[in-house]
Amino acid sequence: MNAENKTFHILTFGCQMNVHDSDWLGRALCAHGWTRAPEDRARVVVVNTCSVREKPERKVYSLLGRLAGLGADVPGRFLAVGGCVAQQVGRGFFERFPQVRLVFGTDQTARAPQALEALVSGAEPGPLALLDFEPAFLPRALYLPEGGGAADAPGHDGGAARPDDGQALARPGQAFVNIMQGCDNFCAYCIVPYVRGRQKSRPAAEVLAEVRALAGRGVREVTLLGQNVNSYGLDRHGDGTGFAGLLRQVCAVDGVARVRFTTSHPKDLAPEVVDAFATLPQLCPALHLPLQAGSDRILHAMGRRYDMRRYLDLVAALRAARPDIALTTDLMVGFPGETEADFQLTLEAMRAVGYESSFSFAYSDRPGTRSVDMAPKIAKDEKLDRLARLQALQEELTARALAARVGAGAVVLLEAESRRQDGRGPVAWRGRDEGGRVVNVPLGGRGGRPGQLVDVRIVQAKKHSLRGEAVGEPW
Ligand code: SAH
Ligand code: SF4
Ligand code: F3S
Repeated sequence: MNAENKTFHILTFGCQMNVHDSDWLGRALCAHGWTRAPEDRARVVVVNTCSVREKPERKVYSLLGRLAGLGADVPGRFLAVGGCVAQQVGRGFFERFPQVRLVFGTDQTARAPQALEALVSGAEPGPLALLDFEPAFLPRALYLPEGGGAADAPGHDGGAARPDDGQALARPGQAFVNIMQGCDNFCAYCIVPYVRGRQKSRPAAEVLAEVRALAGRGVREVTLLGQNVNSYGLDRHGDGTGFAGLLRQVCAVDGVARVRFTTSHPKDLAPEVVDAFATLPQLCPALHLPLQAGSDRILHAMGRRYDMRRYLDLVAALRAARPDIALTTDLMVGFPGETEADFQLTLEAMRAVGYESSFSFAYSDRPGTRSVDMAPKIAKDEKLDRLARLQALQEELTARALAARVGAGAVVLLEAESRRQDGRGPVAWRGRDEGGRVVNVPLGGRGGRPGQLVDVRIVQAKKHSLRGEAVGEPW
């Protein structure tokens, strides 16, 4: 049945882990003779799903409903569902959506290309469910991106579906590298440990081989990825290398100018990692350190295993190690039992730390988690009201943090050129500084290529970005 039509389209929800998995899957399929096509023309549409809150889960069902109505004229067309909701719902998708012929869980992305191949060739009649958790980190072939850039996107919203057309998401010169799978923390509200499985560290030698290969392709900035990178190496799958040791080795790879990592859990942030911010010049002065809430009572109920005192001590140590460190965070409002007074403590903590930006969420019950049974639940309107107040404060803090950069020097990794609306040539380059802030830099006659670095002086702060002046040629 039309075995030669191997066209695909991937839509992705969720965190960097999912974006990274989708990116790998796209490149793996291209390496095996598949080509990308629009969602209504592709033979196979893959939806990579997120289950972290109720909203992104609901969006998966409405998206599948919409996709089921498209592409009726494409012979042999079917849908595939991967990621966290796939792990959670499994074969349930086959009953709800007969167009779904493949469901693959979070540990099975590496096997998805083979499964899709078998389904389109008819070797496998389907439907097929790959839902096992693997005993160790499953190695997967590299399929390096072309031209020194990975088609990965930043972001962490867990909500929007992103088209993975291999273009729109490209951040030249930058790549994500997975260092672990899963999470063992079981925070009371969180479904991730259930849908991503137990923590499994990837052997350091494999991580380094990937970083070297990427650097060899011109990648300048590497972001190490995991749900809780600070506990890297502490599970039985590690090879004895701890996170601080891994950071040292990654920073030492020839050609790697910048290293970042995400996500950190405050309870596991070791003093050696704090020191690394002082001693490793490649390590960017930026840290995403999820706080969740500013009330010790709520942090305790969440099972976060730190209190505000420990968190603020960490912030002080980080600032001592690297005074210019840009701190960002995740915050949640409306956890069961959160009072107005508790919420005020979250606002107070935000002011005390002065976060440059934050991702903030209204709590929602997730199946199987401990907080489902916690009371009292906070009314939806109250949660949304707290979220709005929190986000208004964040806007102020962001503006203040950006304004403080004016006059400072920065190194910007160039991403793309923005053009004037009247079509009369380029206006400026968009890129990111060491702290991860967006900086626009006009390069005039200096040229510049995506993935190059350029020294700038910050001359202006806008609402969510900075403007810089180049002080030399891009390199
Ligand atoms: N591993 C990371 C975050 C993973 S989930 C960490 O430990 O910080 C990303 C964010 O989603 C969390 O930081 C949290 O703020 C939010 N989140 C997780 N479960 C949620 C829930 N049930 N309701 C609302 N937000 C949630
Ligand atoms: Fe979820 Fe907590 Fe693990 Fe983060 S550390 S993924 S919030 S259980
Ligand atoms: Fe969502 Fe799964 Fe990431 S639940 S946030 S895509 S780990």
